[in-house]
Amino acid sequence: MNDDAGLKTCCAGAYESDFARLLLGDSFHPGGLALTERLGERLGFGPNDHVLDVASGRGESAIFLARRFGCRVTGIDFGSANITEARSRAEAAGVANLVRFALGDAEQLDFPVAGFDAVLCECAFCTFPEKPAAAREFARVLRPGGRLGLSDLTRSGTLPPRLTGLLAWIACIGDARPAGEYVAYFEQAGFLSTSVEIHDDALAQMVRDIQGRLLAAELMVKLEKLNLPGVDFEEAKATATSAAAAVRSGLLGYSLITAQKPCG
Ligand SMILES: C[S@@+](CC[C@H](N)C(=O)[O-])C[C@H]1O[C@@H](n2cnc3c(N)ncnc32)[C@H](O)[C@@H]1O
Repeated sequence: MNDDAGLKTCCAGAYESDFARLLLGDSFHPGGLALTERLGERLGFGPNDHVLDVASGRGESAIFLARRFGCRVTGIDFGSANITEARSRAEAAGVANLVRFALGDAEQLDFPVAGFDAVLCECAFCTFPEKPAAAREFARVLRPGGRLGLSDLTRSGTLPPRLTGLLAWIACIGDARPAGEYVAYFEQAGFLSTSVEIHDDALAQMVRDIQGRLLAAELMVKLEKLNLPGVDFEEAKATATSAAAAVRSGLLGYSLITAQKPCG
């Protein structure tokens, strides 16, 4: 396995863990479904759209979009346990006719040219080792005039050492880029009309929530009411404290980015 494949496997594995569910719930991005709805509104989703949700996690956003906008959604994720869970959640939510999930890699999408009306990617682009390849894949699978909606962590300076390790990478921090760099990837892949909407407050709230849940989880483990083998609470709390400081100082933020594939 090369380094990139190892990173993707590690990232997917982390988001399939009980620890991730405990810290994040089912929606793995700042702002939760409110920001997913915001993206859907900005992209004008409706019943005629077929949306590709790249790195769909447990399927929370895909299921929500189908219910809220009536669109068809295909979700892909690198983690097989995520895909299995997303499928059963779609069944339970009664939207299996609109939503389906498949194992896949954002950098090598297993779909034909121009098969989708829109591509969505929430809090995952920053973890892809080959970002230009993923941006080119988004453009390839979109029909002419199709829309792209991304939400992601942004970084506006050099990160402290604590936020450059593997844990920080998996937490979407380690390889976060300035919003302008994401825009440049999409423009180089052929997208037009890019726009950026800042939602740093959503990230600040998420970090506060994670800090609270970390303390609660640590207490439960100490009381032997919870078993989380291999979790280094000191390391996780120190990373969260460092992330909170970076958000407060404006070094880390969260943005929605939208763009369009040219019509012809
Ligand atoms: C922070 S979670 C976001 C999940 C989901 N978009 C959400 O907002 O709830 C990041 C997701 O990216 C997935 N992932 C990481 N690398 C990937 C890749 N190369 N291709 C597809 N999915 C990937 C992980 O398995 C994980 O589910």
